[in-house]
Amino acid sequence: MRTLYLFCAAAPPIYHVAGAIEAAQARGWDVCLGLTSTAATWLHDNLSGLETLTGHPVRSAYRMPGDENVWPKADAICFAPITANSLNAWALGLTPSWPVGVVVEGIGKRIPMVALPCVNEALAAHPQVDRSVGVLRAAGVTVLYGEGGWVPNPSGQGRPAEYPWHLALDVADRTV
Ligand SMILES: Cc1cc2nc3c(=O)[nH]c(=O)nc-3n(C[C@H](O)[C@H](O)[C@H](O)COP(=O)(O)O)c2cc1C
Repeated sequence: MRTLYLFCAAAPPIYHVAGAIEAAQARGWDVCLGLTSTAATWLHDNLSGLETLTGHPVRSAYRMPGDENVWPKADAICFAPITANSLNAWALGLTPSWPVGVVVEGIGKRIPMVALPCVNEALAAHPQVDRSVGVLRAAGVTVLYGEGGWVPNPSGQGRPAEYPWHLALDVADRTV
């Protein structure tokens, strides 16, 4: 079975991640869920249910040196939703959270990766966001941003229940 690492940063669509996991499983993926530390705090009360759903530990922290990797090897990684914070960190090669560290290394390991941002217009107006999208695309990451992907919403008008996870899963399906 193909293994998908589904990584989520702290944006409101994460409260619907169970549906995205089920959708990926229905497409034939073995899903491993990784969360930034802030996202793990938001989902604190749901973590054991999500572990049952995926059949794998939910990971959000760096392991200790010498500890074993508890997940199967990734065939693809979807970072969805990715915040402006995690997107910019990834593009700059910074590793403030465990999932971002994995995708920073994932470029060098040539793991197929897709990012679906979740940013409002105010965050998107920061010049680093466009720069980060460009850097990551040039490095081979599929960033679903702009027409056909995530289009920044006016502040306060996000619709987390309508977050288009399927666009990221479509790319993962095509790459593997
Ligand atoms: C209610 C709420 C909603 C937020 N929505 C977003 C969002 O849609 N996109 C975003 O980039 N940041 C959003 N943020 C800010 C991020 O959670 C914050 O930048 C955080 O540090 C991101 O950390 P992470 O990238 O490690 O998950 C939101 C924060 C709160 C409290």
